[in-house]
Amino acid sequence: MEQKTQSPEKIFKDAQDFLPLLGTDYVELYVGNAKQSAHYYKTAFGFQSLAYAGLETGVRDRASYVLAQDKIRLVLTTPLNSDSPINEHLVKHGDGVKVIALWVDDATKSFEETTKRGAKPFMVPTKEKDEFGEVVRSGIYTYGETAHVFVERKKYKGLFLPGYQPWKTEYNPGEMGLKYIDHMVGNVGWGEMNQWVKWYEDVMGFVNFLSFDDKQIHTEYSALMSKVMSNGNGRIKFPINEPAEGKQRSQIEEYLDFYEGPGVQHIAVATDDIISTVSQLRESGVEFLSAPPHTYYEQIPDRLGEHMSTMKEDIGVLERLGILVDADEEGYLLQVFTKPVEDRPTVFFEIIQRMGAKGFGAGNFKALFESIEREQAKRGTL
Ligand code: FE2
Repeated sequence: MEQKTQSPEKIFKDAQDFLPLLGTDYVELYVGNAKQSAHYYKTAFGFQSLAYAGLETGVRDRASYVLAQDKIRLVLTTPLNSDSPINEHLVKHGDGVKVIALWVDDATKSFEETTKRGAKPFMVPTKEKDEFGEVVRSGIYTYGETAHVFVERKKYKGLFLPGYQPWKTEYNPGEMGLKYIDHMVGNVGWGEMNQWVKWYEDVMGFVNFLSFDDKQIHTEYSALMSKVMSNGNGRIKFPINEPAEGKQRSQIEEYLDFYEGPGVQHIAVATDDIISTVSQLRESGVEFLSAPPHTYYEQIPDRLGEHMSTMKEDIGVLERLGILVDADEEGYLLQVFTKPVEDRPTVFFEIIQRMGAKGFGAGNFKALFESIEREQAKRGTL
């Protein structure tokens, strides 16, 4: 079971939140070929073409495509020459998440408050302007080479950021019901989880509100530990994983080996109708982890207990789509995980529908990891 240690809302009620966060602003991935990645995220995940910056807009060193679906914004960036530092990131990590951008009221104050508490600067407060107004951004490094960028856009009316132009295209597949980013998980090195938990507490004022140890998250072969960090209003949740000793190589270790260091493991996106969303994603070519055995679905009524009476979804349909179910005191949740979306077994997506539950599917960890281990065995990395 998940262990609730503290409630973020309670802790922040009396304390001053020195880093108020309004939400996730965007997620930027560095990729080898942004044009082709953008096509994949449109076709396979239903993202919409929003904005573009590159040679045609006067940017000489990179091309960036901005895709949107409801509140989610992804930026896909690729370097345009060998001098770009983005290449070093790509050579080392492959395609991956570089920036988790956070929407704030005051990017300058966010930078000052976090750097004075020990954050390593990524971007000093920088004003960018165009005919639609002004945006201030600043940034700090978190685990590995990943960065948090603070975005202040209260004086901006444009599409995305100054310098970007509308991305006009004839190819516009429909949305698939993805709504907002529910949480983003980071994998850190052996024994580093608590150090990063403390970093999020000290530097960003987050609290640790759920913890899972290796006794809770393990299979016959491998184990991991995880702590979930949340900001004061609960809008931003960052679980942090570290590998734990098992008989064989854990999926976190596999990630660290192939990403060559800590980084973002998965982006969890919320939907209101997981059956419809996952059906569409599957049809358009998104690959998901295989469904757990039939016995998993037979046990759902027992596992859900009182919440079974409120469950609207048909268990047979969930089984056919490989969707997992878990419950806590407050309700249930439905979730499913994609295979990695690049050739290195690193970043993947989670699709999640919350029906009252606030947890992260701890009851599914065993079934999920056994499914991941079947994939690891195929890759020869178990
Ligand atoms: Fe997750």
